[in-house]
Amino acid sequence: MAMARQRFLLLFLATIVIASATSSVNSASADCSPPPSYSPKASPPLPWALTSPPAISKASQASPVAAPASPMPWLWPLQPTPEISYTITPSSSPTPPSPAPFAPTSAPAPPSRGIKGAYWPSGQAGTLPPSMIPTSYFTHIFYAFVLLDSTSYQVSITQTDHWVMLNFTSTLHAKKPPAKAILSIGGASASADTFSSMVSNLDNRAAFIKSTIDVARKYGFDGLDLDWEFPNTPQDMSNLLVLFEEWRSAVNMESIVSGKAQILLSAAVYFSSNISLLGVPRTYPGDAIRNYADFVNPMCYDYHGAWNTSVTGAHALLYDKSSNLSTSYGISTWKNNGVPSNKLVMGMPMYGRTWELKDPNHHGIGDPAVGIGPGNLGVMTYSEIVDFNLGHNATEVFDEETVSTYSYGGKNWTGYDDTRSITDKVKFAKAQGLGGYFFWALGFDKNWTLSRAD
Ligand SMILES: *[C@@H]1O[C@H](CO)[C@@H](O)[C@H](O)[C@H]1NC(C)=O
Ligand SMILES: *[C@@H]1O[C@H](CO)[C@@H](O)[C@H](O)[C@H]1NC(C)=O
Ligand SMILES: *[C@@H]1O[C@H](CO)[C@@H](O)[C@H](O)[C@H]1NC(C)=O
Ligand SMILES: *[C@@H]1O[C@H](CO)[C@@H](O)[C@H](O)[C@H]1NC(C)=O
Ligand SMILES: *[C@@H]1O[C@H](CO)[C@@H](O)[C@H](O)[C@H]1NC(C)=O
Ligand SMILES: *[C@@H]1O[C@H](CO)[C@@H](O)[C@H](O)[C@H]1NC(C)=O
Ligand SMILES: *[C@@H]1O[C@H](CO)[C@@H](O)[C@H](O)[C@H]1NC(C)=O
Repeated sequence: MAMARQRFLLLFLATIVIASATSSVNSASADCSPPPSYSPKASPPLPWALTSPPAISKASQASPVAAPASPMPWLWPLQPTPEISYTITPSSSPTPPSPAPFAPTSAPAPPSRGIKGAYWPSGQAGTLPPSMIPTSYFTHIFYAFVLLDSTSYQVSITQTDHWVMLNFTSTLHAKKPPAKAILSIGGASASADTFSSMVSNLDNRAAFIKSTIDVARKYGFDGLDLDWEFPNTPQDMSNLLVLFEEWRSAVNMESIVSGKAQILLSAAVYFSSNISLLGVPRTYPGDAIRNYADFVNPMCYDYHGAWNTSVTGAHALLYDKSSNLSTSYGISTWKNNGVPSNKLVMGMPMYGRTWELKDPNHHGIGDPAVGIGPGNLGVMTYSEIVDFNLGHNATEVFDEETVSTYSYGGKNWTGYDDTRSITDKVKFAKAQGLGGYFFWALGFDKNWTLSRAD
């Protein structure tokens, strides 16, 4: 069995790599620098904690117009429960379970400097072109998004993507300091079923993997980011494991053949490693992520929103005494699932969610509401919130207990993150020894205030 599988996998890899190596001959940049050695190219020196501008990135699934997340009741049953204890373990790492049965290669250790990432919705190419992205605040910029073709399972690159992507990678690499350019595949509006079919069968996975490597090399991306929202069944999760294993083997082998630095592999994932929404409870393959991914981006936001208008909610709070819908809980589940802290890149929102209060005099977190508030379907970018609060003389409150910020005025109520809550979350990420943090999304900030926060 094992041998047969091994042969199968090698054959599969050889096909992908030969094809990719051939096609990369035509790729724009003839990279003749490093000999085929295994040492990665030097990465730009962007120390995580030691420079002044602490940046952050964000991520998520809203579109530039902040399309609301799919209306999912992302709720664990609410029951009064003993407080969860949030132990701060600087460099935790759960003892690694036994190695995967067939692990020809595994992911290199993540960089010691922290990742400060941000997703860049490509529709902003006209208003916030790559040349305007301040790379002193970010180490990794994610191109959001390209989709998967639902019959060939290859990533599909539109004419617009073609031009925008060439400019994206070359501009970010030429910046001082340079930032890594990662191609993110999927997003909230991509079909979860297409991903499910892709991972379910060897040929489909091979087509996907080959196309991602080809595209990454053709356009000069440093990495690939899988944004499948979300695997729906335990079967999806075990197929995802196989995808990571094959994808890692393919990028390792491609790197040997091409002599180029290995393509990074990451994934945007649910805020917790267990998913219990809509359907059968299921758990991400923590071992595969530890062994084969460079890092994952838990999307630590959207805990509350327009899908439940009966009470206000802090949609990205760090701590919640009364439920498991919180960033601290989500991060703890990833650690418990065997993913080392330094492979966790914590998501933070540069947007808020709004409610219409039932009674203007009851304006706390969890107070009664009757509908969504101002903004686009109950969502405002941080930039819009700052302007709105100023324009409406709204009262702003930083809530220390949850580590979140809200504002109210009349019946309008907005839950979001400001500089204080972002700063505290960054402290949390560092205390937990996380690999970094990211924002959704570039372009939502007000004068780069949150991007700079530390
Ligand atoms: C491409 O990027 C360069 C900076 O590297 C910029 O000056 C130029 O305007 C961009 N071109 C387009 C078409 O966006
Ligand atoms: C989460 O998944 C892990 C790993 O499968 C499992 O041990 C744990 O019981 C799950 N926790 C919950 C709350 O479902
Ligand atoms: C909305 O959220 C509140 C508080 O979390 C909860 O009690 C209520 O059952 C939820 N309503 C729906 C329709 O999910
Ligand atoms: C939170 O999750 C833990 C398991 O991780 C579970 O024991 C506990 O009951 C959950 N609490 C709530 C309020 O759902
Ligand atoms: C509440 O928000 C609406 C926009 O949705 C605005 O027209 C109104 O003036 C706001 N009310 C207050 C008291 O700020
Ligand atoms: C703004 O609100 C504060 C109370 O929060 C109030 O004291 C002040 O007069 C208001 N200013 C204006 C211009 O309405
Ligand atoms: C934007 O931020 C910069 C740097 O902190 C500051 O000098 C500038 O005044 C700010 N601009 C606005 C319009 O707030």
